[in-house]
Amino acid sequence: METMLDFVKRHVLEALKPNSISIDATCGNGHDTLFLAQRCQHVYAFDIQEKALNNTKEHLMMHRYHNVELIKDSHHVMHHYVNKPVDAIMFNLGYLPHGCRDYHTQANTTILAIKQGLKLLNTEGVMSIVVYRGHEHGVIESNAVSTLIKGLSKKHFYCIRYERINDLISPYTIIIKKIGDC
Ligand SMILES: C[S@@+](CC[C@H](N)C(=O)[O-])C[C@H]1O[C@@H](n2cnc3c(N)ncnc32)[C@H](O)[C@@H]1O
Repeated sequence: METMLDFVKRHVLEALKPNSISIDATCGNGHDTLFLAQRCQHVYAFDIQEKALNNTKEHLMMHRYHNVELIKDSHHVMHHYVNKPVDAIMFNLGYLPHGCRDYHTQANTTILAIKQGLKLLNTEGVMSIVVYRGHEHGVIESNAVSTLIKGLSKKHFYCIRYERINDLISPYTIIIKKIGDC
């Protein structure tokens, strides 16, 4: 069966072209950033933690990718750094794996960031959001994200959710494709 990660990658890939610009909104250890860097002309990668940016930098250097702009700032101000439309935006919410748990994504800034990202997406562009709901902050964030996505216009956005329906604390994924200019 297709894993969460395979599902995300399959949908993001559909939107990418060699000259694409993309955003990793939560670069963490750099796995998603590398995935985008290998397939795009330019990637903007955000994280609020120095450690995450260093890990991502190391991961990219190891694979010899230099087309990534690493930005130490919150994703909810991505529009201050990105002024061109993008083909893909990846969010992987929560904590840095094996890192400090004081730094985690938060409902209010995540919602602002998703809204900014949807404005930056090209038509036919894709946003992926991996949501963790196994901890207290995660449940609040998950509810806020679900409410936002359910309220998006079906004329402009095609939204799907991939989850294990018999394990309601496991992570799930949302894919949003922009299908009309708005
Ligand atoms: C689950 S990890 C991301 C994993 C990453 N995608 C990877 O491939 O390794 C979540 C990351 O989001 C970062 N983060 C938390 N709040 C953020 C914010 N407001 N803006 C940007 N990044 C944030 C955390 O520091 C953490 O590194």
